[in-house]
Amino acid sequence: MITGIDALAFAGPAGYLDMSDLACARGVDPAKYLNGLGQRRMAIATPCEDTVTMAVDAGARALAGFDVDPAEIGTLIVGTETGVDHSKPVAVYVHELLKLDQRCRTFETKHACYGAMAGLTASMDWIASGRARGRKALVIASDIARYGLNTPGEPTQGAGAVAMIVSEKPRLLGIDPSRIGDYTRQVMDFWRPLYSKYAFADGHYSIQCYLDALVGARADAVGECVDLLDSLAACLYHVPFVKMAFKAHQRQLEIEHGGVVSRDHNESWQVLKDSYQRLVAPWLSLNADIGNIYTGSLFLTLIDLLRQQASALAGREVSLFSYGSGCGATFCIGRIIDGAERWRGALDPSAQLQARRRLSIDEYEALVHASETSDSLEALDPASFGLHGGVYYTGTRDHCRQYTHA
Ligand SMILES: CC(C)(COP(=O)(O)OP(=O)(O)OC[C@H]1O[C@@H](n2cnc3c(N)ncnc32)[C@H](O)[C@@H]1OP(=O)(O)O)[C@@H](O)C(=O)NCCC(=O)NCCS
Repeated sequence: MITGIDALAFAGPAGYLDMSDLACARGVDPAKYLNGLGQRRMAIATPCEDTVTMAVDAGARALAGFDVDPAEIGTLIVGTETGVDHSKPVAVYVHELLKLDQRCRTFETKHACYGAMAGLTASMDWIASGRARGRKALVIASDIARYGLNTPGEPTQGAGAVAMIVSEKPRLLGIDPSRIGDYTRQVMDFWRPLYSKYAFADGHYSIQCYLDALVGARADAVGECVDLLDSLAACLYHVPFVKMAFKAHQRQLEIEHGGVVSRDHNESWQVLKDSYQRLVAPWLSLNADIGNIYTGSLFLTLIDLLRQQASALAGREVSLFSYGSGCGATFCIGRIIDGAERWRGALDPSAQLQARRRLSIDEYEALVHASETSDSLEALDPASFGLHGGVYYTGTRDHCRQYTHA
């Protein structure tokens, strides 16, 4: 049985910050953010848009866009590293707001940016075991990446959710269970202590940990294979910032070439640039426009690929690499399902992104400060942030978070 991804949908905040505006405000050459990191914009959440509301929005879009009845969902998993409670899972709010069945198993997974891949593979195992009894799983990646004002991580923020429905007859991507490889190692590259709203990161070390994990997980998935890239139509990576995907692809080529690929070796550098343009770069435009969405960022590249090339690449194989700091990783191989292009309209978030509002630096900084206290405020008004037509966080009363259709 080949299980996999049956439906995909993205949802994110209504506002964004242009990276050139941020660079000017911080006195940084805009080329550093635009070219050095590869980012154009980053989505910024208001206090009324949180991990729950984005997950509900993405989940509702996946169910409606792919004609799935909520009663068909037998497992709901929300992967997040920016939950709203130390104990109560985001998933149980989402369960209620999406009106899922009470017999649906529901939980949250946390392992930095790896939580949704953990949910995806756990759902595949749930189906393969026979426990699903024909039902589907809804796996939602939802996060707000916050590093704080004036930190090195500030240009690698973002916010958004990707919902995936997992089934035994996937309409978008089948995943080969015999080529899934894993990697785990205890490292302090990125973490968020219980007392902090902001993540702590040893940024350059985290890049090294990511690349080590790629080597380990790939070896576990496909062994010593040295011509994998020749057989693939695309390589999809976890994308905390777009340039990271270039570094990851460089490491994959080094594995296959058995040596260093660098600017100093003209021939190998040209091979890398060509391979990157063919297999990686075309699917990074959503990440460049939305920024880092932690658990969902790998799956954003899959949405980008399917909205552009599902027809041309039908039947072809792609690799997927998920990395979560701390650290855990999975490398696997999927195959694009024939007919996936029929669902382009349901998964393409272009209209949502075009409707977003560009924030000024002052508005962005005011939102950052407002979000610091919003968890304990009694009443928040979505309209005061220009929000309407969705489910929003409207404050915490008697220590209980309130979610309202507005
Ligand atoms: C990613 C991160 C480490 C970058 O930190 P930084 O020290 O401010 O940035 P760097 O000096 O490394 O510059 C980033 C890139 O821009 C390039 N750059 C710098 N100035 C530039 C300019 N004026 N024009 C063009 N490129 C420029 C650098 O050469 C570098 O590219 P390279 O890595 O290919 O050499 C930081 O944003 C961070 O900590 N992010 C959070 C953690 C994270 O995302 N980790 C990823 C793994 S999970």
